Amino acid sequence: MSESSARRSFRSAVVPAAGLGTRFLPTTKTVPKELLPVVDTPGIELVAEEAAQAGAERLLIVTSPGKDAVAAHFAPQPALEEMLKERGKDALLAKVRRAPDLLEVATVTQHEPKGLGHAVGCVADVLDDDEEAVAVLLPDDLVLPTGVLTRMAQVRDQHGGTVLCAFDIPGPEISAYGVFDVADTADADVKRVHGMVEKPPADEAPSTYAAAGRYLLDRAIFDALGRITPGAGGELQLTDAVALLIEEGHPVHVVVHRGGRHDLGNPGGYVRAFVDFALQHPDYGDDLRSWLAARLEG
Ligand code: G1P
Repeated sequence: MSESSARRSFRSAVVPAAGLGTRFLPTTKTVPKELLPVVDTPGIELVAEEAAQAGAERLLIVTSPGKDAVAAHFAPQPALEEMLKERGKDALLAKVRRAPDLLEVATVTQHEPKGLGHAVGCVADVLDDDEEAVAVLLPDDLVLPTGVLTRMAQVRDQHGGTVLCAFDIPGPEISAYGVFDVADTADADVKRVHGMVEKPPADEAPSTYAAAGRYLLDRAIFDALGRITPGAGGELQLTDAVALLIEEGHPVHVVVHRGGRHDLGNPGGYVRAFVDFALQHPDYGDDLRSWLAARLEG
């Protein structure tokens, strides 16, 4: 599969970033959680980079009133850039330019917190007529190594319809996720989805395969989103719209991702991600590793 055919699968990547970030209070009184740094780079920039690598040309950030700083991170800062240029700070200038140079960014406002399904539905009107599919990346989820979206686009080229990313989560934590009812295909890492349920009790989960924050949604999802009613937590759930598409015979597959994952959505997961990225960082990795080793012995 060439990169260009994966590219044709979608042009826009939706990043829902309208949440209040209550798990990160008090910081999120003024700082959107999507801008919290993983070492020195906001989580949302890492996610935007992944989307661009997979061929997205446009990032649609679904935001809420008061979170303008998220989109501002992707805007050029001419005065700062000029100053860095004059001072010969080329490495810093490259860092500052990275986000604005990745892809085109537009924002869509979600005025009320009515759930992930509602947030995704907010972009329906800004898609171009010829956009048959749209990618969704949840900025809380870092899926590593990157590349799963490209694989998902290949699966859509082969099977059509909607393709999601699944992680194998054996154990009670499965109840924190959307869970798939699946059947095998000829490819061990691609499963056909026969049903999907949001946050089931662990003993009622239809499998150990959970939705992990990467979606390649056929445009039909927007019609389904318009027909669902509030589900788990009283919210309009993306899971319920996918389940409705399945019921109506629309093909849905998952790519089982065997790599790693970080959940930036809570302080515990965020700390792990920060340490993991810092350990791999050329400037900070060695020092952190020896400090941690000594700290853990002490
Ligand atoms: C959302 C989705 C859920 C998915 C999860 C992945 O839940 O509703 O289906 O498994 O993201 O992180 P949230 O974590 O926002 O409650």
